[in-house]
Amino acid sequence: MPDMLVRLYALPPAPPSADAGVEIRRALAYDRQPVLRWVSEAFGPGWEGECAVAFSRQPITCFLAVREDCVVGFACHDATCRGFFGPTGVDPSCRGLGIGTRLLYACLEDMKSQGHAYAFIGGAGPVDFYAKAVGATVVEGSTPGIYRTPLKNYVQEG
Ligand SMILES: CC(C)(COP(=O)(O)OP(=O)(O)OC[C@H]1O[C@@H](n2cnc3c(N)ncnc32)[C@H](O)[C@@H]1OP(=O)(O)O)[C@@H](O)C(=O)NCCC(=O)NCCS
Repeated sequence: MPDMLVRLYALPPAPPSADAGVEIRRALAYDRQPVLRWVSEAFGPGWEGECAVAFSRQPITCFLAVREDCVVGFACHDATCRGFFGPTGVDPSCRGLGIGTRLLYACLEDMKSQGHAYAFIGGAGPVDFYAKAVGATVVEGSTPGIYRTPLKNYVQEG
């Protein structure tokens, strides 16, 4: 999976929301425990670890999609590396509604406001999604990037 480059100075306006029932907001400190548990269960311990770093920043660099007081999506920046977007994920039952795009814009606009001219999508899985959503382009020679094989000695609880 390659890294991708986003030109924040040329970021278009965020597309209009297609789902008024979902609020996109910056995570708050007291969201940490339920969000990390949800991320771990939905996407695994690796992304939970990256998300935990985003929660350790001030201001927190994790944004949430919230529907009826439940998290249905998350996106982080400046977690695994400075200037990196990710990880991000949307509950499978809520995909295709524009939530992932709104979370992406929330993070990128936050990075732009903090003075970044460019952002990297770290280890981009759905390359076509990022190319379409924000005009991201693949960084040549970035596979493998900074990510390495996960440690094997994780013990699943329960
Ligand atoms: C990638 C992800 C966050 C997108 O969230 P989403 O809420 O479904 O995205 P949106 O509804 O905003 O999608 C907008 C567009 O991107 C497209 N798209 C969504 N996921 C895509 C994918 N994996 N590959 C290619 N295109 C994708 C949608 O079809 C949609 O296109 P359309 O407007 O022509 O219909 C979500 O699919 C997800 O959680 N995937 C699993 C985790 C993951 O891969 N995270 C990224 C790690 S780098």
